[in-house]
Amino acid sequence: EANERESMYLVSEFAKEHFAEMLWNTELGKAIGLSYFKERGFTDETIKKFSLGYCLDQWDGFTKAALDKGYQLEYLEKTGLTIVKEDTANPGDPRKFDRFKGRVMFPIHSMSGRVLGFGGRILNNDKKAAKYLNSPESEIYHKSKVLYGIYYAKQAINKEDNCYLVEGYTDVIQFYQRGIQNVVSSSGTALTPEQIRLINRLTKNITVLFDGDAAGLRASIRGIDLILEQGMNVKVCSFPEGEDPDSFAKNNELEDITIYLQENSKDFIQFKAHLLAEEAANDPIKRADTVRDIVNSIAKIPDAIKREIYIQECAQIMNISEAVLFGTLAQIGKKEI
Ligand code: CTP
Ligand code: MN
Ligand code: MN
Ligand code: MN
Ligand code: MN
Repeated sequence: EANERESMYLVSEFAKEHFAEMLWNTELGKAIGLSYFKERGFTDETIKKFSLGYCLDQWDGFTKAALDKGYQLEYLEKTGLTIVKEDTANPGDPRKFDRFKGRVMFPIHSMSGRVLGFGGRILNNDKKAAKYLNSPESEIYHKSKVLYGIYYAKQAINKEDNCYLVEGYTDVIQFYQRGIQNVVSSSGTALTPEQIRLINRLTKNITVLFDGDAAGLRASIRGIDLILEQGMNVKVCSFPEGEDPDSFAKNNELEDITIYLQENSKDFIQFKAHLLAEEAANDPIKRADTVRDIVNSIAKIPDAIKREIYIQECAQIMNISEAVLFGTLAQIGKKEI
């Protein structure tokens, strides 16, 4: 219901301001949160631009502040900012906890700049808690439909006619600070058609940047077929072992980052064909699987001319006849219809 959503937006906006206030204007916020962001190389300007904040390490500091200001517990609970637990000792007087206690805060904005939810990062990694905690699904926050950074990136995506897709919050922020502003993140979730559609409205060109940890690579490659399906052009680029776009951008000048991206961005289909060809090497059964795998990706491309060109390229890369690849493509086409 519209009124309910409006109340949730308002309390989220208050939370963003409150967390920023705690970061900049409390001793603990400055000593813990602000110095954390500075250690990561973020400037004051960047921290303000992205409205980063800190939730004090208290049970209910934020919740109390919000209730004091007249925000209703109902919406604090519905946005997930407050966790409400019935207290058997005090019926009717539930216990209230700040979900993001002790975390640095990354507000997540819609395309038009409304606060939908938050990501919160833990500071001392020794605790067994998750490194990042995110707002739960709610009437205003659907994680499959948001892209972190889209509000700040949309103009640059339009202007550059390309969008960099990275894994995390800090990758977006560090790239932006370095001057590469056409960058968004799916924030650790598998890419969805809705997220791709947000980008598709602004550009037909995506460059997917992988963390240099190989683990995510396989999973991410699956998701890329969804981008092809929407008729977009996809490039991919990995970073050196142990680096991600954040660390790479922190340690390099803009010019070097730009050169790195130019030299290492590869057409996705070509990249995948090479990767599969290497993996299967001399194993005939594996090779058969990889041929089907690459043709499956090509089959997602709506443009028949592009499909034809990719078939020719992949035949060379995978050292198999074009006729076999075209035959496989035709079979897949029939199955889908
Ligand atoms: N993520 C998450 N929950 C986790 C770990 C990761 O939601 N427990 C999401 C976050 O959005 C994170 C993204 O997945 O930004 C990428 O994960 P990872 O590469 O592990 O984190 P980084 O963004 O590199 O985080 P940092 O540099 O702060 O360690
Ligand atoms: Mn909804
Ligand atoms: Mn990663
Ligand atoms: Mn990372
Ligand atoms: Mn990182």
